[in-house]
This record gives sequence, structure tokens and C-alpha cells, in this order.
Amino acid sequence: MDDFDLKGKTVYLRVDLNCPIDPETMEISGTKRIEEATETLKALSEAKVVVASHQGRVGNKDYIGMDKHAKVLEKLMNKKVKYVEDVIGEAAQNAIKNLEDGEILLLDNLRLCAEENYEFTLENAAKTIMVTRLSKLFDFCVLDCFPSAHRTHPSIVGFPQVIHSCAGRIVEKEVENLGQIMTVTKAPHVIVLGGSKVPDRLVAIKKLIENGRADHVLLTGLIANVFMRAQARIKSPLGIKREEEVVAKAHALIGEYPDVFATPVDIAIDKDGERVEMDVREMGKGDKIYDLGPKTVEYYSKLIAGAGTVFISGPAGFFEKENFSFGTKELLSSVANSMATTIVSGGHLTTALKQQGLADKINHISTAGGALVRYLAGEKLPMIESLEQAAVRFKAE
Ligand code: 3PG
Repeated sequence: MDDFDLKGKTVYLRVDLNCPIDPETMEISGTKRIEEATETLKALSEAKVVVASHQGRVGNKDYIGMDKHAKVLEKLMNKKVKYVEDVIGEAAQNAIKNLEDGEILLLDNLRLCAEENYEFTLENAAKTIMVTRLSKLFDFCVLDCFPSAHRTHPSIVGFPQVIHSCAGRIVEKEVENLGQIMTVTKAPHVIVLGGSKVPDRLVAIKKLIENGRADHVLLTGLIANVFMRAQARIKSPLGIKREEEVVAKAHALIGEYPDVFATPVDIAIDKDGERVEMDVREMGKGDKIYDLGPKTVEYYSKLIAGAGTVFISGPAGFFEKENFSFGTKELLSSVANSMATTIVSGGHLTTALKQQGLADKINHISTAGGALVRYLAGEKLPMIESLEQAAVRFKAE
């Protein structure tokens, strides 16, 4: 960003404001990613800035509009944030055209535009209606959506093909820090993996193992349940999307890499609001796992203590409820107190780490989840690839 004079320019800023949404209140329950976005926005204070992001996935409960995000952003920036309930239509286009220097406009959820729900080649992303229509209104594109860097959606990889583009502050920081860390990583590599996007996680696990980045994979959260189901240690169906397919994949991974995976031995369930701990074998039909038990935490913590590099992603349980935050807190504390190079990933864990006052003890903290896993697995991220191509083109012009 420092290489360009963006004063007075209409700048398209793609950030990742995809936040956890409390399913009961439908309010944003963690604003970490919105807080992060303010740094680049402040650096663009003399431009006309059009902020764009997705929120949730179509069909999921967290798929909502961006009006709440606009309010949070307004508070954090301490200035008016205009908001338009549109992405590529006339209302959005007029709002963009009417922006004055120093103003900020937030578009609605990008995934309201059907194209944004599909992966494209970089070349085809540039030909989408979203990019052809909106790029005419922008002078410049700043990509600062590191948590979505593994996606080839038009809003991410399309614009850099047609307008001058650069990375924002978050992307700059992530790439610099991770580049340094990756040059000194030491084995054994211990991955502590939770999170709810199971199909994505399964792909990433395989890549991490194949690329020598995962000597031990300690499973938590929903992905642990999938593996325990594959081991036939959980008897009843989990009731999740594409269950048969993901369980079969987990089964195949265990068969292929029998010494890599660790799954919980004991867990905690919710019984009428109370925490009840038990061995996994004692679980009854309908019992929902809300946290790890103490034996599992002890076992995982020993493996963490012997690690050269630890990467932890996704909470170990329903950590927002005090009763069920034990596993997440204890594992984070084991990671923070280990001698290893440490990377903590995902908005939930970033928040938990700050709450515990442990942030200073971690080598790299990122609000990214899936993108970071893929980066650590050695994948070239499409967002970075498209920025690199844009830089080459810019220099050639
Ligand atoms: C994330 O939270 O990992 C990013 O916002 C990407 O979201 P997606 O997995 O729905 O594309």
C-alpha cells in the first residue's frame, strides 16, 4: 500500500468480516476480524473506500446481511460508515459513485451475488458480472482478506486481473510473519485441530501430513467427533452435513496414517446446563460433546510439550460457555508455555488467548482458519497468486 498514492481514489477494499454469529440472539459474538480491518481503513483515510466482505455461507444460520458489521465498524472507526443493502445492483453502484473523499461505504454480503458462491479460475473470475460491472467504478483494489486467501471467488481473485491492486496491512503482516516462521520451523510438528468446516479440514490434514508438517494431529471439536465415529467409538450418527462421506474420509486417513491421529479419551457433555464428564465409551444416544475431559487435555498437553512447532486452530469445545471452556483454555495455556514455535489460528482462539493474557507468548496469531492451514501445508494461496500477477503486470506497464 505504501507504494501507491491512493488519496482521492475510489478504492475497492476486500476484507474478511466473516464473524461468529450467536444463533440465539443473531448478534455478532466476536468482532476480532472487524477490529483488524480498521488498520488498513485508517491508512486509506483520504480515499473513497468501498469495503466488501462475505458473512457465513448460503443456507447456514450465520448467513446474514452486513448491517450489524457496519455499526461495529462505525464505532471502531469513530466515523460514519455508509451501508447499502446491495452488492452489484443500481443501489450499490449509485452509492459508490456518490462517495466523497474520506468516506467509507460497506456493501452487503458478497455472497448475495450468486457468482461469489463458486470457485473460478483467475482468468474466468475477471469475466464475472460482479467484476466487469464494479471494476469500472474503482481506481484501485486492496486485498486484505487473508482468512479467505484460499478461495478463488470473483471478489478476491477477479479484480486484481483488471485493476491495479496491492495487499492491505493484514495480508502484509501475515505473509511477512509466516514467511519468517516457516524458515525456522522445527519438528516434531504438532497440529491441534478443531473447527466446524469438516470437509475443508480433511483436505488440509492430508496435505499437512504429506508435506511433513504434521507428525501428530490432536483432534478436538466436531472433527474429533467425525474421527471417533470413524473409529466406531461414537455409536450414534452425529447428524452433520455429508456425514457418511466425511466419516469415510476420516476412516481412510486413519488407515493410511495410523500413528498420526490422537482423539479424545474423555469428554464433557451438557446435562441440563451442567457439565458432566465421562469416558467416550460411556456416552449415551443423543449426548452432545461440549468439551474435552481432563485426561484428554493431559494427554494432548504432553504431546504439545514435546513439540518443535505447534499449530492450533479452532476451539476445543463450546468455549463461550464458562462450563465448557476448560479444554480450550488449558490447551492454549499448554501451547503458550511450550518451548515450540507457536501459531494460533482462528477468531475464537485469538479472542480466548487475549482473555487469558497469553497473546505475548505466541509467535504468530491469526484470525484466519482454513487459509492459514492451507498456507502451512505448503499450498500457494490464490489470493497471493493473483496479487503477485498484478504486481508483475503493474511493473511491465
Ligand atoms: C473463514 O472464516 O475461514 C473465511 O471467512 C472463509 O469462509 P468460507 O470457508 O465460508 O469460505
